[in-house]
Amino acid sequence: MRLLTLFGLLATLATPALAQLEPGDAQAGRGLAANWCANCHRIAPGGPGPATDAAASFASIAAMPSTTSMSLRVFLQTPHAGMPDYRLTREQLDDVVAYLLSLRR
Ligand code: HEC
Repeated sequence: MRLLTLFGLLATLATPALAQLEPGDAQAGRGLAANWCANCHRIAPGGPGPATDAAASFASIAAMPSTTSMSLRVFLQTPHAGMPDYRLTREQLDDVVAYLLSLRR
């Protein structure tokens, strides 16, 4: 079931031009990140640091050439060691991805 969702997602986002059109609200995403991600990730440049350095800052994640809307969505919808298995709603996912990509300079 989750795999099917993933394939559907990949099919929808396979066109790079489409992937650039971020449906999310970066401001809302920042709020979500402050609540859910800031324990482990530095979510804003110059912001308060997390208790651990095991996870990369959002700015450095955004700066990686391999980071795309699609890669973030796939990552956040698959379980990962060291990171809680969030069940983000579609809207929350859009918002967090929009926020992360907004950090790209
Ligand atoms: C409990 C700590 C923790 C929390 C909370 C957490 N993360 Fe992570 N995150 C990690 C760790 C550890 C890694 C590295 C895991 C890996 O490389 O497999 C990671 C990796 C990532 C990556 C991939 C970075 C890369 O190198 O490709 C992204 C994107 C990410 N996190 C986003 C988020 C978002 C968005 C949230 C909030 C919804 C969040 N994380 C919450 C610990 C956390």
